[in-house]
Amino acid sequence: MNKNLRKAVIAGNWKMNKTRPEAKALLEAIKPLAANAEGKIEVIACVPFTNIETAVNTTAGSNIKIGAENVHFAKSGAFTGEISADMLVEAGVEYVVIGHSERRQYFGETDVTVNKRTKAALEAGLKPIVCVGETKEQREDGITEGVIGAQITLDLCGISAEDIKKTIIAYEPVWAIGTGLTATPDQAEEVCAFIRGELARIYGKDTADAVTIQYGGSMNAKNAAELLAKPDIDGGLIGGASLKAEDFNVIIQAAVNG
Ligand code: PGA
Repeated sequence: MNKNLRKAVIAGNWKMNKTRPEAKALLEAIKPLAANAEGKIEVIACVPFTNIETAVNTTAGSNIKIGAENVHFAKSGAFTGEISADMLVEAGVEYVVIGHSERRQYFGETDVTVNKRTKAALEAGLKPIVCVGETKEQREDGITEGVIGAQITLDLCGISAEDIKKTIIAYEPVWAIGTGLTATPDQAEEVCAFIRGELARIYGKDTADAVTIQYGGSMNAKNAAELLAKPDIDGGLIGGASLKAEDFNVIIQAAVNG
């Protein structure tokens, strides 16, 4: 990351894991290190809906912010099983993951719905973490930049320069998520720098320089320092390794040192 321009943001994406007692125990175990990181980096835990209340209470007054893993785009209404942005704000949530590749793959998420959710989140005062990334086939076909460029254009369509500064972009190559295959630091930097270039094309360089761009996809205690040393990688969206306090703490420390 470039510390002169941005602060690192380390976010756990717990996915469909942890009961409430387990959530409390995990958060208690990362609180001390997160407290040391205060002012230097941002630490976020994105948790299942049922853990939000526990997570908000456990982290009250600490340096850990709580995120959700999805949000609906309507204000309210007949959307069985969905949760609105206002409901999340009321529950004490500050961030929300939008357009994760698992939602795109298994739940019919498209760039159009990602764009609608992102706008609804911003309007309610949430900070979106918008996920983009190419599949293995797309990388092998040499169309990674085309795919990511289209996602950036469509997912962020109509979002103002002021709002984009409140938005985090997470570059998550689909082939690296949960597979143990990590993009090399150079591969990850190449795409994160490309994303910043696309943001500069849309919003201008100063605004693009203010946006946090995370890498996600098998980031862990061993590879985090190398990835975070790259100038356009401003943090991580971490799945598997965010479920173990000792691993997540190593990643927080790497970001503090980075
Ligand atoms: P992973 O997941 O770290 O387990 O690869 C990352 C993510 O899906 O956000």
